[in-house]
Amino acid sequence: MKDFKNKVAVITGGGSGIGLALAEQAADLGMHLVLADIDAGALDAVTKTFEAQGVRVLSQVIDVRNEAQLMALADAVYAEFGAAHLLFNNAGVGSVGKIWESTATDWDWVMGVNVNGVVNGIRAFVPRMIAGGEEGHVINTASIAGLVTGHGMAIYRVSKHAVVVLSEVLSHEFALYGHENMSASVLCPAWTKTQITTSERIRPDDMQNAPEEIKIGAMEIGHLKKMQSLIENTGKTAEEVAAATFDAIREKKFYIITHEDFIPAIAIRGKDILAGNNPRDLGI
Ligand SMILES: NC(=O)c1ccc[n+]([C@@H]2O[C@H](COP(=O)([O-])OP(=O)(O)OC[C@H]3O[C@@H](n4cnc5c(N)ncnc54)[C@H](O)[C@@H]3O)[C@@H](O)[C@H]2O)c1
Repeated sequence: MKDFKNKVAVITGGGSGIGLALAEQAADLGMHLVLADIDAGALDAVTKTFEAQGVRVLSQVIDVRNEAQLMALADAVYAEFGAAHLLFNNAGVGSVGKIWESTATDWDWVMGVNVNGVVNGIRAFVPRMIAGGEEGHVINTASIAGLVTGHGMAIYRVSKHAVVVLSEVLSHEFALYGHENMSASVLCPAWTKTQITTSERIRPDDMQNAPEEIKIGAMEIGHLKKMQSLIENTGKTAEEVAAATFDAIREKKFYIITHEDFIPAIAIRGKDILAGNNPRDLGI
């Protein structure tokens, strides 16, 4: 897609971080915005800011884990705008903790948001985007954690690998079924200055662990602190990530790797698999 003016960008997790930066760049290109987020306060504040700038915005508080809420959002978007052109399945949450000490609730929450949330977005919007016949592009936010291997953030890593392969299959299926109007990309950022390390702030009530179930020890707290420091000291801005994303949309580029320093780690993993080596923990 090269012409964005008066087209419609749907952005989940549009209330903060990368989603908000995508919304700002979409608005700068003359797009109408659909912002969906579980954080009502953040969503309200950013909506008011866009409206004050004269941007046409439809905002809805939703939990992307909830399929019915995504379907209702799509109904509202098609009633208001009659189309959706860019679909950013971007809402996501972080996790810390070992695989065997993360609770079933932790798995349900992180996989529910990071994987099912993307699936729900696709199921709600893609059939209508295909039927509408206009040029459409689906951009799923994964992470560099979906392309490399390492320790810590176990559920997050699993969820982001799922989003990468989900996006690859989506791209294959658009081609296989002849939906030439549709494209797909997967956004794989590394450290970016957002609120991702404080995802617990928006963990819903039905996803809280009982205090005695929580097994986050010194090691896990250490991982979290290291991550926060890497983001603070070496992270890109959300605006840089959003700009790279719009460049990729213009070029119909599938893999959006925003942090080139991490490309060697992807190659090392590939080489280890091909050589029959055991996985190396590169600390990423
Ligand atoms: N920041 C990084 O370093 C980094 C790196 C790689 C990938 N990512 C990915 O980028 C995406 C955006 O995260 P961010 O870094 O901007 O963090 P962020 O916390 O600043 O923004 C995430 C937004 O998603 C919303 N959200 C969370 N759960 C939701 C739910 N159930 N339903 C609807 N909205 C929900 C939050 O309220 C928030 O507004 C995520 O998918 C994240 O995994 C971030």
